[in-house]
Amino acid sequence: MTAAASGLRRVDLCGLEEVPAGTMKLCEVGDDLVLVVNLNGQLHATQGVCSHEYFELDKGFLTGESITCALHLSRFSLADGEPLDPPAELPLVVYPVIVEGGRVLIEVPPGSLEVSR
Ligand code: FES
Repeated sequence: MTAAASGLRRVDLCGLEEVPAGTMKLCEVGDDLVLVVNLNGQLHATQGVCSHEYFELDKGFLTGESITCALHLSRFSLADGEPLDPPAELPLVVYPVIVEGGRVLIEVPPGSLEVSR
């Protein structure tokens, strides 16, 4: 089923070359921010700000298969966004990623991005 047929839209975040393996990049989608992470060639996308307080996650660090928020050091799984340490309790929203034509895209419902805060 195509994205249009499923009611989802594809949002172009950045070029694949902008996120080399082992790095992350914060991308703007309207008023929202999305964090793109390249974990050993596997692309992940999560909400760009922490679910605990407003803090941009690209200021944090990649820690294995998780990202650590630099403000209070909660780690979040990149697979499902679940917090692995306090103080964060809410998971990060994780968006499905598609890599196509050298671009990194997410496939999401129309309207504002889902974000947990
Ligand atoms: S703002 Fe991220 S853990 Fe507090």
